[in-house]
Amino acid sequence: MKTKGQKALPDVKNTTHTDGIACAYCHRIQKIEKHKKFNTNIISTEEKNYFGTRKEHAKSPFHKISTNNNKLMQNGNVCIGCHSHKANKFGLNVCSTNIANEMDGANCVSCHMPKVKGSVSDMTQRKTHAFHGFAGSHFHSDMLQKYVNISLLREIDDFIVNIDNQTSHALLLHPLRVAVLKVSINKAGKTIKLKDEIFLRVIGHDGKPAMPWKASTTLRDTMIKANEKRSVKYNFSLQKGDRVDVVLGWYLVNPKAVKKLNLQNTKIATDFIEFKKESFEF
Ligand code: HEC
Ligand code: HEC
Ligand code: HEC
Repeated sequence: MKTKGQKALPDVKNTTHTDGIACAYCHRIQKIEKHKKFNTNIISTEEKNYFGTRKEHAKSPFHKISTNNNKLMQNGNVCIGCHSHKANKFGLNVCSTNIANEMDGANCVSCHMPKVKGSVSDMTQRKTHAFHGFAGSHFHSDMLQKYVNISLLREIDDFIVNIDNQTSHALLLHPLRVAVLKVSINKAGKTIKLKDEIFLRVIGHDGKPAMPWKASTTLRDTMIKANEKRSVKYNFSLQKGDRVDVVLGWYLVNPKAVKKLNLQNTKIATDFIEFKKESFEF
């Protein structure tokens, strides 16, 4: 929430800007209201009654657990009060996931909170629990690698790298992100680097790139879309013995915007994050 009388910038004194999302917040989302600009969560007013999905141990000496009357928890869409979309004052959709979740059986929770080893609490013995580290572009992205496949097709005079995004939303969502495909050839111990391929969505105003709060339109969009298989062709004739090393990764903040945001000394903003690596030998 914006601090009253303030512009959109974060305010360290505003708890809605600094607090993480508490257990009791998510586990009490009762309803999600859909709005044009962004959705809102309706939080249950019943104290210490938490919604969940696990019917086997729906008892706790500390609080109530309701496991059968909350559809949002069950269908994995409990996230979309915050993550479905965000439109700015121009009505431009700055960032959106896909709440229709066209994937077979997969949803926000099954992909981003996969089942991991370990019991749910020390009061019940269970083999697994839902990962609460929210795998994403900052952390634990290795847990999401399996939803993006990289393959290579060799032709006579060239080769094609295919990126198969099996995600129900674009590969990256925040408009400041830039995905990069890096390809190099190892030829008899020597490395030949080919030109980087960039995937991004540029938003702007009056034909020029602009920050998310100032942009009124999409100028260019080469980001890999939901369920898209993107092919990138390289005019390079592969010979027997060559190895092709392919790396797909991203910058969280577009290197062209880093200085403007005064983030040039912030490592997480300037580092290249390696998401998936694949090698092909011929
Ligand atoms: C961003 C929302 C969110 C937050 C924050 C959150 N949870 Fe969850 N939690 C979920 C969802 C969604 C599930 C159901 C996962 C599933 O369907 O398998 C879940 C499942 C659980 C379960 C059931 C067992 C399991 O499968 O893991 C427990 C227990 C739990 N959460 C405790 C907590 C505690 C304790 C915290 C705070 C430290 C917390 N949760 C914070 C969304 C959240
Ligand atoms: C109350 C609002 C809220 C809810 C509900 C919520 N999130 Fe988030 N989520 C956020 C915010 C805010 C951030 C950014 C946190 C930050 O920058 O520190 C975030 C970050 C993330 C990220 C990390 C993205 C990155 O850049 O690495 C993932 C993944 C994510 N959430 C998934 C989920 C999933 C899955 C659910 C549902 C179980 C969920 N969230 C529910 C508000 C929410
Ligand atoms: C089939 C698996 C899958 C489903 C379903 C899915 N995601 Fe993702 N999500 C991914 C992958 C893969 C990425 C990109 C890799 C990464 O960020 O680590 C990603 C990235 C994200 C990010 C970070 C984007 C960024 O620009 O930093 C957020 C936030 C997110 N997903 C939220 C959601 C929400 C909310 C839903 C449900 C509406 C959802 N996802 C459904 C696999 C999935």
